[in-house]
Amino acid sequence: MSNGYEKISIQWFPGHMTKAERMIEENMKLVDGVCEIIDARIPFASRNPDIDRLAAGKPRLVVLNRADQADPEATKLWQAYFKKQGWYVLETDAKTGKGVNRFAGAVRAALKDKIAYYEEKGQGNRPLRIMVVGIPNVGKSTFINKVAKRKAAIAGDKPGVTRGKQWIKIDNTLDLLDTPGILWPKFDDENVGQVLALTGAVKDDILDRETLAANFMVRLRDHYPMVIEQRYKFKPDPEASGYDLLCAAARKRGFLISGGELDTERMAAILLDEYRGGKLGRLTLEYPPVEVNV
Ligand code: G4P
Repeated sequence: MSNGYEKISIQWFPGHMTKAERMIEENMKLVDGVCEIIDARIPFASRNPDIDRLAAGKPRLVVLNRADQADPEATKLWQAYFKKQGWYVLETDAKTGKGVNRFAGAVRAALKDKIAYYEEKGQGNRPLRIMVVGIPNVGKSTFINKVAKRKAAIAGDKPGVTRGKQWIKIDNTLDLLDTPGILWPKFDDENVGQVLALTGAVKDDILDRETLAANFMVRLRDHYPMVIEQRYKFKPDPEASGYDLLCAAARKRGFLISGGELDTERMAAILLDEYRGGKLGRLTLEYPPVEVNV
């Protein structure tokens, strides 16, 4: 990874991050539980791990969104991994709404002790309040809008758009608190920046696209070699570097620049576009620690 990337990772909107986290902390006392939306393709990178500190002691729900774009086998492993932390887990495709109808039931299951407590105090009718958090592009607004069955969340939670907190009434039993501000992912790990760029969650112009694509080739070779064979029509050499693999793909596609040199830049752009466009199929880029695989 280039030095440029390292520099960006350190200076990544620190002001926004602090503000969003402070607002989450301030509002935590108002909610009964926390629902974290993450990207099923990159469940580590699409989390802000500070949530664990900010939401300490609150019942937790994790929504593995974009499940339609992730490898179903890997999503099963991730479900087991998060359940092991004592969290309730849902798998959704917020775009079509698949899995979203299980949200209300999951909230009640996660908050069963809270519900029992409210009932004991004679407040059984009190709506449950859930804070929804997620880094940009995980599908948080789409998810909230599907749960609410209306355009309740402001989509495009983008830098520069400041807004206050937003309560969204789902029905008489449930209120959602859409987190104010932008919760950034944690870029301290090089891998995090790379997989966020691969999925398009951050712009890849902050990285060297050829290096990103070459590293992606290695990921494909190690986890989904059939994708390389089927899409790029060659059998990946287990010893080859990512750049060699990118060259092999460029050769197969006949991408040359004048002088007969391989146009790896073009191949890199095409590879990334094809992945983001879903042409390589349902791929997961991060896997849970191996203990849960057994
Ligand atoms: P955010 O609030 O977390 O920032 O994300 P947002 O809901 O704005 O979603 C970002 C994009 O991701 C949207 O696409 C949305 O449709 C898409 N998306 C959200 N959830 C899912 C999912 O589970 N599966 C898939 N395949 N896509 C999902 P867009 O291109 O910005 O808009 P549009 O083409 O849907 O209009």
